Amino acid sequence: MTDPLALFDAWFAEARASEPNDSNAMALATVGADGQPSVRMVLLKGHGPDGFVFYTNRESRKAGELGAGAKAALLFHWKSLRRQVRIEGSVSLASDAESDAYFATRSRDSQLGAWASDQSRPLADRATFEARYEAMRARFEGEDVPRPPHWGGYRVAPERIELWQDRAHRLHERRLFVRDGDGWREGLLYP
Ligand SMILES: Cc1cc2nc3c(=O)[nH]c(=O)nc-3n(C[C@H](O)[C@H](O)[C@H](O)COP(=O)(O)O)c2cc1C
Repeated sequence: MTDPLALFDAWFAEARASEPNDSNAMALATVGADGQPSVRMVLLKGHGPDGFVFYTNRESRKAGELGAGAKAALLFHWKSLRRQVRIEGSVSLASDAESDAYFATRSRDSQLGAWASDQSRPLADRATFEARYEAMRARFEGEDVPRPPHWGGYRVAPERIELWQDRAHRLHERRLFVRDGDGWREGLLYP
């Protein structure tokens, strides 16, 4: 198979069946304007030929590093399967309609949490956060919680995808796919 996205789908299906939790967890690496890389976990909430989608606070540190034309890297590590997938590419905002649709599927608690959170900014203490949460609960009492304007999705359009499989004697298999027009060019890497 030479379509890395189809290979990803097959591995992801196996990961969903075998990983004890968060098989959709991935590390997201970004780079600040000063060249400082930073990395954190996020959850994959959609993927397809256009890219890999996650949702976050658009005022967070990561969001500050994901401005127009930004590049990012994603890393899945499925420990039980001894596999990793590395993805690199350009980032764009998910549309409002897409972000609204996903936000609507979240639990009410998470929806209120998105309103209460000031991600990446220091808060005086936990009690302040809980008070904000309670204030949001009261604000939206009896109505649907709309998506906060500062919350939404990002899509990483893959330009490089590497599928890494642990093999005996450290002779790991590394298949690297590099975007080539509408298709992909494949090369095998040394372990
Ligand atoms: C398994 C796991 C999944 C996470 N998923 C998300 C997510 O999907 N979106 C998000 O904003 N933060 C998520 N977080 C929290 C982030 O790792 C991070 O703490 C937060 O987004 C702030 O990052 P920043 O300050 O670099 O912007 C997750 C954390 C873990 C451990």
